[in-house]
Amino acid sequence: MTAVEVSGVSKTFNKGRPDEVAALHDIDLVVDSGQFVSLIGPSGCGKSTLLRLIADLVPPTSGTVTVAGKPARRARLDQEYGIAFQQAGLFDWRTVRRNVELPLELRGQSRAERKARAEEMLALVGLSDFAGHYPAQLSGGMQQRVAIARALAVHPPLLLMDEPFGALDEMTRERLQSELLRVCAATGTSTVFVTHSIPEAVFLSDLVVVMSARPGRITDTVKIDLGPRTDATRQSPGFFTAITKVRKALRGIETTVDEDVEVDV
Ligand SMILES: Nc1ncnc2c1ncn2[C@@H]1O[C@H](COP(=O)(O)OP(=O)(O)OP(=O)(O)O)[C@@H](O)[C@H]1O
Ligand SMILES: [Mg+2]
Repeated sequence: MTAVEVSGVSKTFNKGRPDEVAALHDIDLVVDSGQFVSLIGPSGCGKSTLLRLIADLVPPTSGTVTVAGKPARRARLDQEYGIAFQQAGLFDWRTVRRNVELPLELRGQSRAERKARAEEMLALVGLSDFAGHYPAQLSGGMQQRVAIARALAVHPPLLLMDEPFGALDEMTRERLQSELLRVCAATGTSTVFVTHSIPEAVFLSDLVVVMSARPGRITDTVKIDLGPRTDATRQSPGFFTAITKVRKALRGIETTVDEDVEVDV
């Protein structure tokens, strides 16, 4: 089964205007069911735009996006995916549990169903004890975990994540990476994950998609075959080999982009 199929997609913002930006050019991407795919590339190369296209938050200029075998718009209406962005984006006036319940409310689920599901999701991310707290009473990492619990609450077949751990310290980040993989494995979720971190991409992914800037294109895909991830994975020779492979793929970009474009390596 295919979770996402992006076919010949280009995206130009403000077409025909002086501020026209060719953000993506001729993108083809297939995410298989249950697969974890990371997007990595220099700032401005269109990673967030590609994620937004998959989520049907912006329309493509040309090409097609299919999610769970449906047009992206239908998939959005059917809530086929959950989204978690760099900022947790929680509602301050709602408790942790009621934040996680929000997408379930939008689906019209009963109070009892919502509560049960929210508690199940909070247990998955290790926050059962904080269900009654408000976001302001949590650390940044805990807020991110609430956002992940919320994204997973409808049991979406697909999770779209845009640098969700970007603002976290290294230790919290590594712990959340492991938690995310555990949750995805437990729920059979497919994931498209944007990151600037090569080790993060390698640790999490089955496939790392390397992009170049202006207009964003996919220049390489690196298959990662490290088996089930544990803390030992981060010290394994295979991990370092894969990091080098991705770094080289990114460096390939450096020689072809403008000098003012930074490559985050
Ligand atoms: N709504 C918009 N209107 C006009 N231009 C946009 C819009 N969104 C993105 N862009 C442009 O599209 C290009 C790609 O932006 P995008 O946010 O997808 O990059 P990114 O790879 O996510 O970068 P970063 O790593 O810095 O988050 C940029 O040149 C940006 O200015
Ligand atoms: Mg971005």
